[in-house]
Amino acid sequence: MGTRTKLIAGNWKMFTNTAVARQLAGAVVQGLGKETRVQVALCPPFTYLSVVSSLLRGTAVALGAQNVYPEREGAFTGEISPAMLLDVGCKYVIIGHSERRQVLGETDAFINRKVKAALEAGLYVILCVGETQAERESLQMEEVFERQTVGALDGVPSSLLPRLVVAYEPVWAIGTGKTATPDQAQDAHVLLRKYMAKMFGEEPAQALPILYGGSVKPENIVALMQKPDVDGALVGGASLKVDQFLTIIRAAL
Ligand code: PGA
Repeated sequence: MGTRTKLIAGNWKMFTNTAVARQLAGAVVQGLGKETRVQVALCPPFTYLSVVSSLLRGTAVALGAQNVYPEREGAFTGEISPAMLLDVGCKYVIIGHSERRQVLGETDAFINRKVKAALEAGLYVILCVGETQAERESLQMEEVFERQTVGALDGVPSSLLPRLVVAYEPVWAIGTGKTATPDQAQDAHVLLRKYMAKMFGEEPAQALPILYGGSVKPENIVALMQKPDVDGALVGGASLKVDQFLTIIRAAL
């Protein structure tokens, strides 16, 4: 489907500082120039959203956050609401990253609340799903995909789907240097689209951008992007190196 918008999102995770964040964001903006054939988003840590937001204002590069809390406001010490993310200039928010599922114990039910709150508030959601090595080896991918998509999207009205992006991130490929082969990514994306179609119908499923994430690098992005169901990438490590990130973006044009 040639109609899905391509997205390359940089997930800076818990890296950078003010100076590095400024430098990275400035270099991406400069390197991209007026290019708008692909949507680019930068997702810095919360503390640098504001500084990166000012650098991205008026450019084609969008701002994203790495997490959100599913309440409007209140006594939730340490948490950040969808409205606050919008207020600082975010368009996107990453939800359900495997690091949050594994390190911080996030469940599908909690992820579901976040997805709904973020979409209802007006954010674009990058929902991460993906199997572990053990789940792949024991042929449980279908179950995992169904559990994660149904779990995260239960009760989401179809009217909000145009602001949803799914990122297929096999856990065994994140930060490991092991990338899914283009065929493995394509197969997984087709499977995910199948569950989306089951839930929301064929048309919204076909319109949904599905990104690949997990050790995306300049060396593997070209072959990944050639697959018809790979609509972009969620990039961790390589998004912290301007040259690599720009090469990845150019491969998606
Ligand atoms: P990686 O991270 O590119 O460093 O593997 C991807 C991600 O976790 O989003």
